Amino acid sequence: MGLFSKDIKSMDDLFMHTLRDIYYAEKQIVKALPDMIKKSSEPQLKQGFQSHLNETENHVKRLEQVFKLAGEEPRGVDCPAIDGIIEEAKDVAGEVENKSVLDAALIAAAQAVEHYEITRYGTLISWANQLGHGDCVSLLQQDLDEEKAADKKLTAMAEGQVNRKAA
Ligand SMILES: [Fe+2]
Ligand SMILES: [Fe+2]
Repeated sequence: MGLFSKDIKSMDDLFMHTLRDIYYAEKQIVKALPDMIKKSSEPQLKQGFQSHLNETENHVKRLEQVFKLAGEEPRGVDCPAIDGIIEEAKDVAGEVENKSVLDAALIAAAQAVEHYEITRYGTLISWANQLGHGDCVSLLQQDLDEEKAADKKLTAMAEGQVNRKAA
């Protein structure tokens, strides 16, 4: 369903569409992370991906609670944006042989994922506030805080040893 689908008529519809979009995205990320864990070499990075996989599984569960609060069954809609980001990550990683360069490529791909999530959660939180879904806000905020923390950790790793080793 496209953004301007005729099924989206109100802000509530738009909120629900975007919730389904991030729900689909989180589930795709749960599927993609094990491969990134496998491909990474730096122990700190590997462990960071592992702990974000655990967090991401919780993001899926929190979103299911948000659906419940909104009185809807949890369901996703195709999100070509996250599919594209994950696809591109696989393409780039597939071409890199040097382990340190591969780590740098994985960090860059993971940050693109985090930034996608951050933009979606930021939007959902402001719409939830506008629409009076205050009960959904704290759940969405917890996800957003973990995405931001993950992004920061990735930046620290990129600026620390990983990119230096790859250079
Ligand atoms: Fe997430
Ligand atoms: Fe994330």
